[in-house]
Amino acid sequence: MQPHLKKAFTLLALAIIAFIFVRSLVVPLSFGQYGWYRGDALGDIRNFPVEYAGSASCGEENCHTNIYSVWINGSHKTVNCETCHGPSGKHVNNIREMPGPVNDSRDYCGICHYKRVARPTTFPQIDPAVHGQDMQCTYCHNPHKPWFV
Ligand code: HEC
Ligand code: HEC
Ligand code: HEC
Repeated sequence: MQPHLKKAFTLLALAIIAFIFVRSLVVPLSFGQYGWYRGDALGDIRNFPVEYAGSASCGEENCHTNIYSVWINGSHKTVNCETCHGPSGKHVNNIREMPGPVNDSRDYCGICHYKRVARPTTFPQIDPAVHGQDMQCTYCHNPHKPWFV
């Protein structure tokens, strides 16, 4: 073999060995246990505290039954309570732990309702520059049953 090829192959072999060595140090042990990810990740995720309780726990049976029945019959029934009120699992387990304040700004409603060309035209959208005269949306719309002007 030509000496310059020998050098190149030696370098290549060294590079491969170095790669395998470094890889064995930095790749977590459980990588590939179930697939192309860290097997231990499943346990990590399972151990996160549960933050959300779900809309049914707010009022299907207890507590906010009036708001719940208004909401479930309105067009916001696909927008869960905790979408606007934030994660409320702690509050459901202990009523003394209040959920954070609700975001009642125009821009919050606008995340879904400001006019965007990418949205289906059938989705209710408004132009914030001319709609509602800079007033809070909830001044005119009931957030739990928005068609209650
Ligand atoms: C689209 C956003 C949105 C959704 C969905 C929503 N809320 Fe609200 N909620 C608000 C806003 C905004 C206020 C503040 C009302 C105001 O400023 O007039 C409020 C007020 C409240 C209040 C305190 C005032 C009152 O009327 O007693 C309670 C309790 C409440 N919501 C519970 C719920 C429950 C339970 C659900 C689900 C069944 C829910 N909300 C769903 C936005 C929402
Ligand atoms: C997470 C997205 C989301 C947020 C945030 C949201 N909405 Fe809605 N809104 C919806 C959906 C979904 C509908 C139902 C659309 C449909 O029927 O096709 C709707 C419907 C409406 C309608 C039309 C009702 C009708 O019967 O035509 C109004 C008005 C409305 N929302 C006002 C508000 C106001 C005011 C807020 C803020 C307090 C708000 N929305 C926040 C998703 C949202
Ligand atoms: C001054 C009262 C008032 C305020 C404030 C107001 N609205 Fe309205 N909204 C109305 C009225 C009245 C209608 C029905 C007539 C119309 O379409 O203009 C309506 C209609 C809508 C519709 C239905 C549009 C459609 O084509 O189906 C949506 C969505 C809506 N509003 C969202 C909002 C949002 C989001 C805010 C806050 C950024 C807001 N509104 C603030 C009075 C108001």
